[in-house]
Amino acid sequence: MRQSVWQPANSMRPENEIGSWLQMAKERLHGVCETPALEAQVLLSHVLKKPRTWILAHPEEQIPPSLFAHLDQLLNRLINREPLPYLLAQWEFFGLRFFISPAVLIPRPETELMVETALRWLQLNPKRRKVADVGCGSGCIGITLAYHTPELSVIASDISFPALQLAKQNVSLHHVESHVHLVQTDLLSSLHCTFDLICANLPYIPTQTLLNLPVAKHEPILALDGGEDGLQLIRRLLQSIQLWIKPGGLILLEIESSQKESSLALASSLLPKATIHCIHDLSDNPRLITIQFP
Ligand SMILES: C[S@@+](CC[C@H](N)C(=O)[O-])C[C@H]1O[C@@H](n2cnc3c(N)ncnc32)[C@H](O)[C@@H]1O
Repeated sequence: MRQSVWQPANSMRPENEIGSWLQMAKERLHGVCETPALEAQVLLSHVLKKPRTWILAHPEEQIPPSLFAHLDQLLNRLINREPLPYLLAQWEFFGLRFFISPAVLIPRPETELMVETALRWLQLNPKRRKVADVGCGSGCIGITLAYHTPELSVIASDISFPALQLAKQNVSLHHVESHVHLVQTDLLSSLHCTFDLICANLPYIPTQTLLNLPVAKHEPILALDGGEDGLQLIRRLLQSIQLWIKPGGLILLEIESSQKESSLALASSLLPKATIHCIHDLSDNPRLITIQFP
């Protein structure tokens, strides 16, 4: 692993220029990530506090020498395969910016399917405004729903206190304090209310599979580990869901693509009166289980 610190000797040398730094960073990131040029640009844009388009349009501009040490430290962390969003401490989800930290899962584009589906249902059901976001992590699902839907009342729960502390910052960032309430609890267990819509992106990776995944090195195990078959938390939630769902309510569950059959079978055995479907994501992978109650 190369750890050398890139130090320009003289501020007028071309190495100090944006274009040269990008080339050097791209070469060092080669083989480390799938899009080395893009990651180098995003990192530099973050440190220089300039849009990526500005960086690309000004390859001849000098990087202030005071920023080199910080830039080099971040680049080395990237080379050590720390995910870029953790270095930036923020990430975009459904067009909104969210603070993130290693206490929470990095919001994934696949999860936008749940938000799209939920927003459509809320639009079609304007009187149904009570929502739960179970396992809220950064709060990206519940906050996005509240941001886009007037008069929504969201309870966002997580068992992790550090995750909830971060979600609180995101609630403030998007000014939804009066619409999103954060609760530390196991699933929904400490709540004594019912919901029109329950969204849950719970951990769903089987424990054994997780042991070999690079993602487990940096993202919280609590956000990933779905037990022996990956469905442990989903199973527990569905076993007692009747306590929390209103008649006519909808449950949305994110799954891993290989869990389509097992999660459909699980949901229909536990909730035989509900209408259950699986929606595929843009890559045509099964991604979302929808459970509509009569
Ligand atoms: C896959 S992450 C999803 C985070 C966020 N909703 C998202 O989509 O980016 C799962 C979240 O569930 C939380 N979690 C794990 N076990 C839980 C439990 N028993 N009750 C409530 N939340 C739990 C984790 O702390 C984590 O934040």
